[in-house]
Amino acid sequence: MTSKFYITTPIYYVNSTPHLGHAYTTIFADAMRRYHQLTGKETYLLTGTDEHGDKIAKKAASLNMTPKEMVDKNSEVFRNLAPKLASTNDDFIRTTDERHIKVVQALLQKVYDKGDIYFAEYEGKYCFGCERFLGDDELVDGKCPDHKTEPETIKEGNYFFKMSKYWDELRQKIEDNPRWVQPDNFRNEVIGLLKQGAQDLCISRPKERLTWGIELPFDNKFVTYVWFDALINYISALGCPDGELYQKFGGEMSHLIAKDILKPHCVYWPTMLLSMELPLPKEIAIHGYWLMDSGKMSKSHGNVVDPFEYIEKYGIDLLRFYLLRTMRFGRDSVFSHDEFLTTVNAELVNNIFNLYSRLVGMCRKNTDLKIPAYGPQGEKEQELKHAFSSLKRELEDICLSFQSDRYIERIVQASGAINKYLDESKPWSLAKDPTKKEEMGTILRLSLEAVRQVFVWLSPVIPNLSQKVLAELGADGKDLYAQLDSWEILENEQALPEKITAVPRLME
Ligand code: MSP
Repeated sequence: MTSKFYITTPIYYVNSTPHLGHAYTTIFADAMRRYHQLTGKETYLLTGTDEHGDKIAKKAASLNMTPKEMVDKNSEVFRNLAPKLASTNDDFIRTTDERHIKVVQALLQKVYDKGDIYFAEYEGKYCFGCERFLGDDELVDGKCPDHKTEPETIKEGNYFFKMSKYWDELRQKIEDNPRWVQPDNFRNEVIGLLKQGAQDLCISRPKERLTWGIELPFDNKFVTYVWFDALINYISALGCPDGELYQKFGGEMSHLIAKDILKPHCVYWPTMLLSMELPLPKEIAIHGYWLMDSGKMSKSHGNVVDPFEYIEKYGIDLLRFYLLRTMRFGRDSVFSHDEFLTTVNAELVNNIFNLYSRLVGMCRKNTDLKIPAYGPQGEKEQELKHAFSSLKRELEDICLSFQSDRYIERIVQASGAINKYLDESKPWSLAKDPTKKEEMGTILRLSLEAVRQVFVWLSPVIPNLSQKVLAELGADGKDLYAQLDSWEILENEQALPEKITAVPRLME
């Protein structure tokens, strides 16, 4: 396994404001980044906004704004959302950034000089929502299945990228590398797409029809088509080809996207990179949609959940916990407020935080709020340690396959094992017998060490709460991952705080 991890989110369109679907991908990418960082890897997280194209230009016109005015304003909303999600993104790329435009033009020229771009007349059905031509086989009742609109028939002279030239190489790559597109249901979908036969990709718009794009370096009467612009963000942000960051992370891209943009990421992008003679992504991870009872959550359906409201009311950690716990990787999930309350109450409040406060309560009563030293250990202690011993390997496997739901489930189980250990060893009854003080100390100490581990594991999911609890335990220093192998990290006699971090039961 490499020691680097570079994860990206899609760059979001700025024709509307962010909703929970956008927030989810950023949160997921951030959790993955935090996990890999915890394990000691050098990591990088990129997000940003996609600001060119028909859709944006049309929306700006409808608002009586110039495209530039609108994208400046809306991009800011996405930029400000990231820290509210507790996202630790290192950069925020905009496709209107000069640094991006320069790289797009240089790469277009390279591909053109190589003979991989040609000019042709074309007539096709164009979906403005998807910003691409759709094949007849992709339409349902003549409409785009995602946007529920009839595509417009467009006929014009344009530049095309010879995607077909790299088709077989791409197919081989996918067939040879089972984890390259994850999970399997989407990998199969990509293989299905490739089996339908090689296609080329329209990459331009004549300026008569659209000026809001990046001018082609070899024909100033045209601008690039949205995907040949947008996808390049993943490397322009790193300063491709010579930038230090590109040297470091250019070959390490893990793309996290939803299934709506599977084809651009799994077909257009890798063939573009093959033509550009640049490294391919290391993996492409594809999640499903957040749905409302009424269908896919999207601005155009008017059924969006506002992440800001949840963050304001419950705090970002609880929202992160629910989203990452609930969606099974690769499947759709229905967002439900009731389920949000039930999940947080059952797993975070009743199981994990209740355990923590129970333990501190026992220390308050019996050890003067001090972390007790170990006394002799027996079979039950070995059992609890055993329940934790395989976690590192299991969670690593789970993370490599992007299964945030199973990651959290496994940690909740581990917390359940501590609760069970406490229930069976009954430290409260030992406390009554002065000759059993050491045994009681062992139970409390071992449980506190296990709780420390639980919160280290949870730190990618609920970073703020975990950080607070670990600080209260005096275990928020460096090397948290290495410390997971030890049961002697807490300090004997260290004082626990009077008032600890708690998650109150959610009521409505
Ligand atoms: N600009 C393109 C992406 C270019 S990437 C080089 C785009 N933008 S978008 O604003 O429409 O964002 C799509 C992405 O937002 C999805 O792939 C997903 O990450 C996220 N989501 C938007 N709606 C969502 C749901 N309802 N559910 C889950 N994720 C959602 O496409």
